[in-house]
Amino acid sequence: MELKIYKDKQEVAEKFSSYFVDKLKGRNSFYVALSGGSTPKIVFDVLAEKFSDKVDWNKVHFYWGDERCVPPNDDESNYKMTVEHLFSKIEVPKNNINRIMGEKDPNGEAMRYANLLEIDTDSVEGVPQFDLVILGMGNDGHTASIFPHEIELWNSEDHCVVATHPESGQKRVSINGKVINTAKEVAFLVTGASKAEKVEAVIEQTNGYKKYPASLVNPSSGNLVWFLDEEAASRLNQNPS
Ligand code: 6PG
Repeated sequence: MELKIYKDKQEVAEKFSSYFVDKLKGRNSFYVALSGGSTPKIVFDVLAEKFSDKVDWNKVHFYWGDERCVPPNDDESNYKMTVEHLFSKIEVPKNNINRIMGEKDPNGEAMRYANLLEIDTDSVEGVPQFDLVILGMGNDGHTASIFPHEIELWNSEDHCVVATHPESGQKRVSINGKVINTAKEVAFLVTGASKAEKVEAVIEQTNGYKKYPASLVNPSSGNLVWFLDEEAASRLNQNPS
C-alpha cells in the first residue's frame, strides 16, 4: 500500500492526473473503472484542461465501478457527471464509454454489465481484470457502492451486484470485491476532513475497521495507492514506529 498525501484537493487532482497519464504511456489499450460521487469531478476537470491533447483517448476504455440507478441525464448519475467534467471536453470514441445503464431494471443491468466486463476485459480465474480501478470512500467507509450494512455483497459470486444506499434507499449497481481486488492496480481518491476518521481506521486497521468495505480493498497485485489530501490524512500516524 502506497500513501500519496498532498496539500489539498486540487493538488490531489493534479498529481493523480499525471499518475494516470503516465500509466497510459506505452500502452495500446487501457481499461479503467471510474468512481463516482463528487471527488472525481476535480480530477476529470484537470484531465480535461491539462491533458486533453496529451493523451490518445482512443486507447482508454472507460467503465464504472458503480452507478446510481437513475437515468443518464439525472443529476445523481455518475455518467452524467463524467460527461460534464471530462467526456464533453476530450476526443474519446463513444464506443470507449461503457456506462452502467441506470435507467434499466437494476438486477437485469447488473447481469448485463457483468457479462460486458467478462467479454471486454482480460480475466484472471474467470474474474474481469481492469488495468486500474479508481475508488472513492464514503464517510461511512463504503467504497464503490458496497455499503457497511450489506458488506456481504463484497463477496458475491456475481461480478456486479445491486446495492441499496442506507439512507436514501437508492438502488445502485456496483462491481464486487473480487473484481476490485483482481485489478492490476487500485487507486483511492479521498479528500476532505470528513473522511479522516475512516481513512485512519481503514489504513491503520483500527477502530472497528473490519466493518468498513473500504478495508477489504486489497488487490492481489499488491498495487494499492491512496491519493489523499492533508485533511483526509490528518489522523494518520505519520511517524511509523
Ligand atoms: C458513488 C461512488 C462512491 C463515492 C463515495 C465518495 O457513486 O457515490 O462511487 O463510492 O466514491 O461515496 O463520494 P464523494 O467523493 O462524493 O465523497
